[in-house]
Amino acid sequence: MRRTLTLATIFIVSLSARADFPAVADLPSRMELPDPLIMLNGERVKTRDQWTDKRRPELKRLFQHYMYGVPPAPMKIEAKVEREDPKAFDGKATLKEVTISFGPPETPRIHMLLVVPNEKKGPVPAFVGMNFCGNHALVKDPKVRIPTAWMYDRYPGVKDNKATEAGRGTQVDVWALEQSIDRGYAVATFYNGDIDPDRKEAREGIQPHLRKKDEKPGAQDWGTIAAWAWGIQRAVDYLVTDKDIDKDRIAVVGHSRLGKTALLAAALDERIALSIPHQAGCGGTAPSRGTVGESVTKINTSFPHWFCGTFKDFNDKTDRLPFDQNCLVALVAPRPVLFSNAIEDTWANPEGQFQVLQAADPVYRFLDAGGLDAKKMPEPGKLIDSKLGYYIRPGKHSMTKEDWKVFLDFADKHLGKK
Ligand code: GCU
Repeated sequence: MRRTLTLATIFIVSLSARADFPAVADLPSRMELPDPLIMLNGERVKTRDQWTDKRRPELKRLFQHYMYGVPPAPMKIEAKVEREDPKAFDGKATLKEVTISFGPPETPRIHMLLVVPNEKKGPVPAFVGMNFCGNHALVKDPKVRIPTAWMYDRYPGVKDNKATEAGRGTQVDVWALEQSIDRGYAVATFYNGDIDPDRKEAREGIQPHLRKKDEKPGAQDWGTIAAWAWGIQRAVDYLVTDKDIDKDRIAVVGHSRLGKTALLAAALDERIALSIPHQAGCGGTAPSRGTVGESVTKINTSFPHWFCGTFKDFNDKTDRLPFDQNCLVALVAPRPVLFSNAIEDTWANPEGQFQVLQAADPVYRFLDAGGLDAKKMPEPGKLIDSKLGYYIRPGKHSMTKEDWKVFLDFADKHLGKK
């Protein structure tokens, strides 16, 4: 009897030792960006298999445990094409509105807008990304659905935190859909509030619906950025089944908080062929150990819902993080990544972002995948289009048609024109 009990105890201890990582106070202090090729136990990764089978999964788990939170296991999705207009953009494109549903019936759904160029010889490459103020704001088409979920009130046409007809077409230049169509790309997009409205006061997104029965929220619960990234992955679930789309050429793009999301989605999902986090900054492309712009303490205070509970333990203790954002980029290797920035957007720490790419470069080289082909930051307006790409332009925090030209050039180079 006694023997059985002891065995059982050992089993439980070893199980929890496997599932848990050290408490923040027990992690070593490091001022420099951690080397992605050194495991948590100090061992150096020497072979490609060690990277793929050990370090990569470990890094994913570390990011989920300490920073973004743990998403639910993959689940079945259902996608319904609600409307298809083969003559959108004066006949240049086919516009589809697709509803993607998952989880119990009352779970919020993704309402995706997909535009596909009509002039094509086969399946086309696609950009996927979330928008801040609804699909109707990206087009003039009066039929495109207006979101019903809570919305930021700083955008045109938003009244009492609800989107209205007055917002239609007000973001046409931000997404520049027609330009992407003209260059042979499809674009898939949806409102980030479809997955999780961005408010710290209320949890109205998908998370409570996908929680297991009787499960209480905990310190490793997925935050809003993880939920948004999960939403992008569900959009990819649909896109890989759409015969118009080349499933090997899906690129993710996002601005700012949605850029943090774009990088995380690509880190977690190898179906995403290329990632463009635009002006993403702290919690995405800027170093958490950085001293310029937004700090971890600041982001955790202003946006406590974006990350998991444990990330707050690193406020003023970022030296204890067992990774930095260079390790998130490393998870995307060997796939291309472009960090794109603006000079006046110092809040997003453009110089620090360049250092993040430099510190991810060894993993790309280790995998024979190229890397960052620049020793210093380029002059404004010049794209570094190596596998790890960098771009900075004059101006402010915004996404513009000109930025999209750069995204398209980078995608042309790496996804190629078939
Ligand atoms: C705030 C926030 C940033 C974020 C940005 C945005 O400035 O501090 O972390 O990237 O909003 O999403 O526009």
